[in-house]
Amino acid sequence: MNENRDRLRIAVQKSGRLSDQSLDLLRRAGLVFRSSRDRLFLYGENMPVDVLLVRDDDIPGLLVEGSCELGIVGRNVLDEQRLAGADAPAPAELQALGFGSCRLAIAVPDNGLIKNVTDLAGLRIATSYPALLAEWLRKQSIDAEVVLLNGSVEIAPRLGKAHAICDLVSSGATLAANQLHELVTVMRSEAVLASSPRAQNAATAAQIERLCARIGGAQSGDG
Ligand code: PRP
Ligand code: ZN
Ligand code: MG
Repeated sequence: MNENRDRLRIAVQKSGRLSDQSLDLLRRAGLVFRSSRDRLFLYGENMPVDVLLVRDDDIPGLLVEGSCELGIVGRNVLDEQRLAGADAPAPAELQALGFGSCRLAIAVPDNGLIKNVTDLAGLRIATSYPALLAEWLRKQSIDAEVVLLNGSVEIAPRLGKAHAICDLVSSGATLAANQLHELVTVMRSEAVLASSPRAQNAATAAQIERLCARIGGAQSGDG
């Protein structure tokens, strides 16, 4: 652990699809929190474990730099970081958490011009997951241009920025609202517990193991 602290830190999405269920899981694992005034930091009252509420995309970086020992994040976010970071140390997936299931999918406008995966050749695809998309395109031998957008990817086709998008789909409501539909699934994802790639001292490693066991226990109690 960081030499300056003797408490574990777990990073959780501040506001988004995984936020509520992530905190629920930690509560069911037995953690009792006190919220800070800015509500970005939850102090663990009954265990030496604090929760940081952050943007989900920042979670892999916090784990790599060692600011947090654990994180709850979508597998897609972890895998994107691993691919983009090449040989750099990457956070490990400790366990799948059984919620937040979704898919990273390529979606196209409902106008019917793009019918097959092969129609994507030579087109622009907007995404917040450029490394995952590029790897998938390479495996499919499709030569398309990857356009990075960090938010509101679903409006890219209407803006003329891209012909298609590659984004997470859960209920499908976002696609439907933007006159888009799925063409193909790139990967399946769900919330996972991830750990920092930094070496931990024995006391911290034991603390992490205890917390993981509690989280595992809270999960198996799920209906
Ligand atoms: C994803 C995706 C869409 C939405 C799709 O964002 O970018 O905005 O979920 O869900 P739906 O199919 O149920 O409409 P997410 O909340 O995962 O993360 P973000 O805010 O970090 O983009
Ligand atoms: Zn995000
Ligand atoms: Mg989104």
